[in-house]
Amino acid sequence: MKRTKIIEILSTAKPGENVLIKAWVRNKRVSKNVAFIALNDGSTIDNLQVVVDVDDKTEVLLSKIHTGAALSVCGDLTESAGSGQNVELLSKDIEILGQANPDEYPLQPKKHSLEFLREIAHLRFRTNTFGAVFRIRHNMTFAIHKFFNDKGFYNIHTPIITGADCEGAGEMFRVSVLNPKNPPLDDDGNVDYSKDFFGKETNLTVSGQLEGELAALALSEIYTFGPTFRAENSNTTRHLSEFWMIEPEMAFYDINDNMDLAEEMLKYLVSYALKNCSKDIEFLSKRREQEQNQKPVNQRDQMNLIERLNFILNNKFERISYTDAYEILKISKPNKKKQFEYPVEKWGFDLQSEHERYLVEKHFLKPVIITDYPQEIKAFYMKQNDDGKTARAMDVLFPQIGEIIGGSQREEDYNKLKTRMKEMNIPEKELWWYLETRKFGTVPHSGYGLGFERLMLFVTGMSNIRDVIPFPRTPKNAEF
Ligand code: 4AD
Ligand code: MG
Repeated sequence: MKRTKIIEILSTAKPGENVLIKAWVRNKRVSKNVAFIALNDGSTIDNLQVVVDVDDKTEVLLSKIHTGAALSVCGDLTESAGSGQNVELLSKDIEILGQANPDEYPLQPKKHSLEFLREIAHLRFRTNTFGAVFRIRHNMTFAIHKFFNDKGFYNIHTPIITGADCEGAGEMFRVSVLNPKNPPLDDDGNVDYSKDFFGKETNLTVSGQLEGELAALALSEIYTFGPTFRAENSNTTRHLSEFWMIEPEMAFYDINDNMDLAEEMLKYLVSYALKNCSKDIEFLSKRREQEQNQKPVNQRDQMNLIERLNFILNNKFERISYTDAYEILKISKPNKKKQFEYPVEKWGFDLQSEHERYLVEKHFLKPVIITDYPQEIKAFYMKQNDDGKTARAMDVLFPQIGEIIGGSQREEDYNKLKTRMKEMNIPEKELWWYLETRKFGTVPHSGYGLGFERLMLFVTGMSNIRDVIPFPRTPKNAEF
């Protein structure tokens, strides 16, 4: 007999049907004549209730069934009296596929803290919360590919091992096969990477953008969706050392086209989640409300998760320049009252997430896109404005998250780009291929990067980025 998934049983199966299910035990209750077993197979957040008549034969079997065990159950569906579902399964035949010793199994049918669940990340998929999070993660992955595919963008796989430091910051993980105890040295006593595997120094990529640009300057509209790695020592609830990034890159787009695409994409993804993950989002929304109720009243969310998602759909994103944002922040109440950890004093400072969140949550009450940042705090490849001080950058800021997208129009002028690279000490010989695209058929083009886990934080309402990626990598943590 063919196995039926629980989602199918709960949505379309009719009382009277004979079915086979395979799933894990969430809970078991045994009374004198009858036992109830709640089973979950991950296809939906809902459990299927199995009803077992207790007799001499089943009694022994039931005593071996515990939370966490895997079962195969064959039986007839009946209308349900009290399980909260339309149907339940009257068991005719139960087989234990895999036992779970109750003295050792760490997940019991009660609320566990997220911190504890992080320590058992190999098992946390089996909770309602993480089941919901990872079903949503799959749906968001699929929706991203669908969004771009429907628009005629091509997905490009950019390299994970790279010889170029794209963002110009020294925060990369080295990839090397040299013996760390006794590496070959050059005449100056430095490690001689020409003897290394690739014959040069290589690292894990921080972004697929530079290679993405090469493809966009031929295929017109492309996107990447891959893992990126940053060795910065940021132990926050919004930073990972390994995270996934979506990077569209479009020929013939200026910064306004870029902002339009970013806004359209984010709205599409949020609306996709509301439409296709409603059960999981409802569960996570309730979960977050319970969590919020533990907090002091003035620190609680103004909106619940579902309201927050609709807030994105119902508002046009506010677009302002860095200079205007700076003026607003400088005279803002928290700045005057010295409530910001990083006071806003001089034009040119880099916005911190407290400033970003103030703009979104207190000042505009809308998602915000900030453009035209000081050139000095942005990457070398961003198009320079005529004022000689700002670059055509854009960051999209969301409530709770702060920066969710960073992007820009790119500098397409060969000489300007070359000069900027020199000023910022970016070795031309490492990026000769990038510069060449500005020599041969260069065109205005733009792109951005969406941090996938930042999107996931927003859509699930989880508060820690470690809880929206299956196996988080953060400083001092690479378990599992
Ligand atoms: O702003 P970033 O550094 O931009 C780039 O890497 C560009 N090359 C993107 C482009 O124009 N193609 O990173 C983009 C986004 C951020 O807005 C943030 O959402 C996310 O990536 N991000 C991180 N997410 C999790 N952990 C980290 N350590 C992150 N650093 C950036
Ligand atoms: Mg950024």
